[in-house]
Amino acid sequence: MTRSVESGATGGADTTSYDQAIRAHYDSVAGKAGLSPQSTMEDERLRALETEAIHGFVEAAARALLARTPPLEGVRLVDVGCGNGYTLSTLAEKRGLSQLVGIEQNDSQRMLASQRPGVEIRAGDVRQPRFYDDLADIVVCQRVLINLLDLRDQQAALANIIDIVRPGGYLIFIECFELALANLNAARQEFGFSLIPPAEHNLYLPDDFFETKRLLPLREPFWEITPQHFSTHYFTSRVLHDIALNACGAEFRRNSHFVRFMSQALPSGIGDYAPLKVMAFRKSEGT
Ligand SMILES: C[S@@+](CC[C@H](N)C(=O)[O-])C[C@H]1O[C@@H](n2cnc3c(N)ncnc32)[C@H](O)[C@@H]1O
Repeated sequence: MTRSVESGATGGADTTSYDQAIRAHYDSVAGKAGLSPQSTMEDERLRALETEAIHGFVEAAARALLARTPPLEGVRLVDVGCGNGYTLSTLAEKRGLSQLVGIEQNDSQRMLASQRPGVEIRAGDVRQPRFYDDLADIVVCQRVLINLLDLRDQQAALANIIDIVRPGGYLIFIECFELALANLNAARQEFGFSLIPPAEHNLYLPDDFFETKRLLPLREPFWEITPQHFSTHYFTSRVLHDIALNACGAEFRRNSHFVRFMSQALPSGIGDYAPLKVMAFRKSEGT
């Protein structure tokens, strides 16, 4: 596979082929869900797990940045593909962050995000080099690269995102990957359940997608959350829940008591059943 995470990369695809579909999808989501946290994420427990992981990451990153010599005057966080601005709004009171910026391509989502206090929302397309004309200390990218329906665009976007981060800055990505979806479906097949495909407006990433010298994976003690952090929740909500429903012939219900209870009662991150992974990095110096 050709890698293109060098600086200033542009996508190789005819982007117009999928732009319309993605725009229509997020226009419709904006109309239906407005400012709700469930906009773009109907699974309440998963949204809470994502938010918790991002908060832990941002706190650790801000602490590390502010402890540097010479100290930074403030920490600028950029949420790329910020949607309706929900995640940014939850970070607005975080200590140590001096500026919260959201970049969003979709007009309807951007208008929603702009209503949030304490955040600055700008138009931008992550496929374009320098889509943000400043430098970020921390970047959050939550289910955005999977909306680029061509691998070359995804690679170009990753390079562009790395470019807008100060060397030594921090990045967290929450994105979907191919192999864990296969594991989840294998578990479902043991019980004769149908295969879960990626949503039609998503292209899952190959598992080596983030392998580049420009990004240093973060590990303990700085960061204790593994990429498989959501695995237990996926197994609970997409395998155990179906077994329980089948056993008593009950109708599917999202955000059920069963799922909420089991997902909290069991240890997180067991196995590799969550296509949605948490990837945390520091940007290499000098790249
Ligand atoms: C799944 S939603 C996630 C929104 C937000 N990060 C969240 O977690 O609530 C993906 C967002 O990425 C935006 N997006 C898609 N393609 C983009 C692009 N090329 N540049 C910037 N944003 C994009 C979409 O408009 C949408 O708001």
